[in-house]
Amino acid sequence: MEFFDVVKRRRSIREFSDKEVPRRLIEECLDAARLAPSGTNAQPWRFLVVQSPERRAALAEAGFNQPCLRNAPVILALLGDLGVDRKRLRRAKELGDAGAISGDALAILEDKYGNANETKTARSARIAADCMIAGEHYALAAAALGLGACWVMLFDREKAAAALGLDAKNNFPVALMPTGYPLREPHPRPRYGLAEVAWDEMPGRPWEAVREE
Ligand SMILES: Cc1cc2nc3c(=O)[nH]c(=O)nc-3n(C[C@H](O)[C@H](O)[C@H](O)COP(=O)(O)O)c2cc1C
Repeated sequence: MEFFDVVKRRRSIREFSDKEVPRRLIEECLDAARLAPSGTNAQPWRFLVVQSPERRAALAEAGFNQPCLRNAPVILALLGDLGVDRKRLRRAKELGDAGAISGDALAILEDKYGNANETKTARSARIAADCMIAGEHYALAAAALGLGACWVMLFDREKAAAALGLDAKNNFPVALMPTGYPLREPHPRPRYGLAEVAWDEMPGRPWEAVREE
């Protein structure tokens, strides 16, 4: 599917058919996630694919039994990886060597990361932001392949971590993404118009569309 068709046709899918999802298609979605950009190219993520009925049931419970978790054949657990993130200073230096960031910017990163000047909250938020870009790559790839997924961030983190058997020193759950073949195509959810959300040059000056709708 062409890129803009994928973007326009993607929906949050909450009802799935019983049709088995081929392993190859899951792999394509994971590969799209892996290619996502991340701050200092840290790539602080892990993608845990859950298909066993017991684990899916435990995740559905952690997710307050939201229907999309109860009936999905596959649930992707999008995890932040603190171990990989510890290599971020090395990744930042690679960007410096490649001339992608200035010496001044690199010095700031070295101070922040090298001297552990980042709070735990800021670090988790930064890792989660990176993971969410990867998650949307995954969701768009799923849509392009005729599959569907849904972001789920309303869940009990401790219960989900226990259901997934996570080592809390290294991994924490950022989101759950039920995945499968859509049972039906949902109506689009409303969006604000471009003139409402896009400003031209100055705050509050609406972007005037030149395209024909
Ligand atoms: C960060 C984030 C968290 C979300 N959490 C949930 C959730 O816990 N459960 C759910 O059913 N949908 C969840 N959604 C899906 C949104 O409700 C959905 O994207 C929105 O209503 C727009 O609909 P659409 O994705 O079909 O365009 C979440 C979406 C995002 C981006």
